[in-house]
Amino acid sequence: MTGTAVRPPGSPSLLPRRLAAPAATWERDVDVVVLGSGAAGLSAALAARPVRSVLIVTKDTLSAGSTQWAQGGLAAVLDPSDTIEGHVRDTLEAGAGLCDEAVVRELVAEAPTSIRYLMRLGAAFDPAAGGTDIALTREGGHSHNRIVHSGGDRSGAEIQRTLDESALGAGVDVLGRAFALDLVVGTAPDGVRQAVGVRIGQTDEYGRLVSVGIVNARAVVVACGGYGQVFASTSNPPAVTGDGIAMALRAGLAVTDVEFVQFHPTVMWRGPDATGQQALVSEAVRGEGAILYDAAGERVMAGVHPLEDLAPRDVVAAAISRRMGEAPGGVDDHVYLDATHLGTRFYERFPSITEACREIGLDPAVDRIPVAPAAHYACGGIRAGLDGTTAMRGLYAVGEVASTGVHGANRLASNSLTESVVAGTRVGRDLAWELPDRVSPDVDIDDPMGVALLAPARVREVRAVMSRHVGVVRDAMSLASAAGALGSIARTMSSPSSSLAAGDAGGGPVEPSRRSWEGTNILTVAAARVSAAQLRTESRGCHRRSDFPEPRDEWVRHLDVTLDATGAVHVAD
Ligand code: SIN
Repeated sequence: MTGTAVRPPGSPSLLPRRLAAPAATWERDVDVVVLGSGAAGLSAALAARPVRSVLIVTKDTLSAGSTQWAQGGLAAVLDPSDTIEGHVRDTLEAGAGLCDEAVVRELVAEAPTSIRYLMRLGAAFDPAAGGTDIALTREGGHSHNRIVHSGGDRSGAEIQRTLDESALGAGVDVLGRAFALDLVVGTAPDGVRQAVGVRIGQTDEYGRLVSVGIVNARAVVVACGGYGQVFASTSNPPAVTGDGIAMALRAGLAVTDVEFVQFHPTVMWRGPDATGQQALVSEAVRGEGAILYDAAGERVMAGVHPLEDLAPRDVVAAAISRRMGEAPGGVDDHVYLDATHLGTRFYERFPSITEACREIGLDPAVDRIPVAPAAHYACGGIRAGLDGTTAMRGLYAVGEVASTGVHGANRLASNSLTESVVAGTRVGRDLAWELPDRVSPDVDIDDPMGVALLAPARVREVRAVMSRHVGVVRDAMSLASAAGALGSIARTMSSPSSSLAAGDAGGGPVEPSRRSWEGTNILTVAAARVSAAQLRTESRGCHRRSDFPEPRDEWVRHLDVTLDATGAVHVAD
């Protein structure tokens, strides 16, 4: 393929180019609107605020996204015996040939400053035993101890608290229970399309539509996070439904590297029927010496990789998956993590994991923890620079929703919170310095109530398809099944005003609500991911295909997915 967009066989069509909602009844003007309230969005808002009016739009509360749940911490070179070169090398190695080295170097060089910045804002990182230095731990793929953590395994919660307080204290405004439906786009005097605002669906606490409005802004910062909820089992909280990526696709932007979703190797296994957000068992537990065993008591990682249990995440997840496929001891859906060498020290070092273990009647000081891989992190997204700039003037993307070239085909552990703070702060500072000119929105001729939405009841099917056919390892047949199943599900979509497809959709017309918008976004992102995974006929990083088990030189390139005017998915390199 050479830059030509193709439609992968069986890929779904009919995906909407707008989210259905009634006409807007209110408007609001700000300098900068930030969509999402995790580390990236808050960092951007905080840095822009001193000179700009800034509004954070969140469909829930400020801490409903992934940041709050991050356990491991933030990677940065802080130990004098560690080197920038070492962190760069580890990031490139994990990224399996698809990182942008220049961007990786920028991030790694700025990472220590971002830790000091967070400390100045009041973040309390765990001190090293008996000293005043910050404690540094290790995670998979790191050749040195360089992960800063807080509250043991409550690192994300501390970052969220610090940035929430700082942003609110600085006068950043927040619009809660506000679903970012679609970008509002205008045409500048030089004929260039420009993001000029966002259409918002305001909901009540149950996600029911209350009103629709428009926030006009000179800069729109998308920081909506990833899309773990596209899968049946994930470490991500319920709000992580790919809203930013689906919105970008509908606005005509390309999303890149969406075939690379990182499966965390060790998410707590709570039985065959457990779905939705599952408790993470941080890689830092293996960083502190824990070992993976199968149900027959054999080590999983011995002989698989020189770093054994601390191999990069994609390698560990694939090894667990393979071992589960062999069903040692008759067990094919989980393995065990043994951290009992830590004894009762485990409780203090990993309080959240201890709590999750106790909920299923286990004591991690004496019991092995049942674990399995689950969807964890989207390495791809809206193509953006580390300064957030995208292909559309006025539109910026930061954090997990963005694809900056830092992560390549597989993110190195704990690089993501660091990237969110570095990139978010950069975009905020740039916007404090200079904003795009104000441009009027293009005249809207479409009736957004005429477009279809996915019935919330169908979302479970999408998730089951994605976990069954597009999980840790896939092949042409499983991807074709996924594409076919998503196509059938897409055909059940129904518009609010139409009752024609009502029977098919499993009940009356589909009403605009948080759940139907999220479901439609989940379907859109799932279709994009399957299409890219179909075309990439190799295994690289966290894209693993059993029919093409090796990396292939011709695939050292990125795939861009777009949505055409008819709602069909196209892929190009
Ligand atoms: C973990 O604590 O294992 C997750 C950290 C990360 O995803 O970077």
